[in-house]
Amino acid sequence: MEDVTATLSKPALKIGPYEVDPPVVLAPMAGITNVAFRRLCREYGAGLYVCEMITARAVVERHPGTMHMMAFDQGEYPRSMQLYGVDPKTMREAVKIIVGEGLADHIDSNFGCPVAKVTRKGGGAALPYKRKLFAQIVRASVEAAEAAGVPFTVKFRIGIDDDHHTFLDAGRIAEAEGAAAVSLHARTAAQRYSGKADWSAIARLKEAVQTIPVLGNGDIFTADDALRMVAETGCDGVVVGRGCLGRPWLFGELEAAFAGRPIPEGPSLGEVAQVLRRHAELLVQHDGHDKAMRDLRKHMAWYFMGFPVGSELRRRFAMVSSMDELDELIAQLDHAAPFPADALGPRGRQGSPGKVTLPHGWLDNPDDDLVPEAEDMHSGG
Ligand SMILES: Cc1cc2nc3c(=O)[nH]c(=O)nc-3n(C[C@H](O)[C@H](O)[C@H](O)COP(=O)(O)O)c2cc1C
Repeated sequence: MEDVTATLSKPALKIGPYEVDPPVVLAPMAGITNVAFRRLCREYGAGLYVCEMITARAVVERHPGTMHMMAFDQGEYPRSMQLYGVDPKTMREAVKIIVGEGLADHIDSNFGCPVAKVTRKGGGAALPYKRKLFAQIVRASVEAAEAAGVPFTVKFRIGIDDDHHTFLDAGRIAEAEGAAAVSLHARTAAQRYSGKADWSAIARLKEAVQTIPVLGNGDIFTADDALRMVAETGCDGVVVGRGCLGRPWLFGELEAAFAGRPIPEGPSLGEVAQVLRRHAELLVQHDGHDKAMRDLRKHMAWYFMGFPVGSELRRRFAMVSSMDELDELIAQLDHAAPFPADALGPRGRQGSPGKVTLPHGWLDNPDDDLVPEAEDMHSGG
């Protein structure tokens, strides 16, 4: 375990008016961090739990599916939403709607998506390269949000690739334009989710951005990783994504670690099955039975990672179609099997690096402020 003295003596993380204690944020993950998954995570520990990314244009157009995705649980506070947009006007309008109608208490933004269909049009991780446009988007959003006292934060990557780093400018610009905090996923878009996050970039961002919190993100798979990131980079808080897939109790471990308490033992297979069942119930409450079952299937491999579950049983879990069937499958598990040590490593997306597709001539002039045509985006960051 890391020496937590330095970590424990840091001032509490504040994002706008909200104290985030422990300084832990659930990373927005499209298709994952819906109201059910956030509730499940929140039952283990405090922190800030960000909603799935919402497209600014869909908010402005009041797309029914999007409005459903913007749901929060009764006890969820602050309600944290992530917006994606590439155009200052649409972002301003979307933020105005959200704060005007009291739909969220905190708004984050996504400038880190590496997906080709997004960067090809100048969106996601390609956007901060256009410094003026990026500044305009942050300013427009902050202006609209601050009218209601809602903090606006910005999440980005190191840059497009190793020759085009954008994170230091992005951090300074976000700070100057009034963002309440910045988060850095310490990879370039070209890395996608491959290789290792370069935590030294988080330390450099922390030096460059003096007046607002800097949150570090990338490759936190254990509570110990989180303490180590804070100790190594000086960041003010951590953002945890893939590490909690199939492991929502990680937030309890993080809370214990940041409080200097011993980290609880990982759950047995029987306990994991109860978590999985709770996840299913929460999904059914929000999305109805059929959608819930479809959504749950993608979590199965994560829940059972490293546990002795035979391939036939795994396959049946991954195709589960009803709560009764889920119970029948759960009954077949070896409930006493202890939490496996090898389940602590990387999980979720990894993929391989690749060249980032950009609009023609995108890199010619970082200071033009053309608004890219990209707006549709459904695949996250
Ligand atoms: C399935 C999935 C969906 C994601 N969706 C989003 C998203 O909508 N917005 C965003 O800013 N980042 C998104 N990300 C990136 C994460 O927020 C996070 O930055 C990244 O996974 C690195 O953190 P980690 O190493 O803790 O997973 C997504 C990641 C995954 C794995």
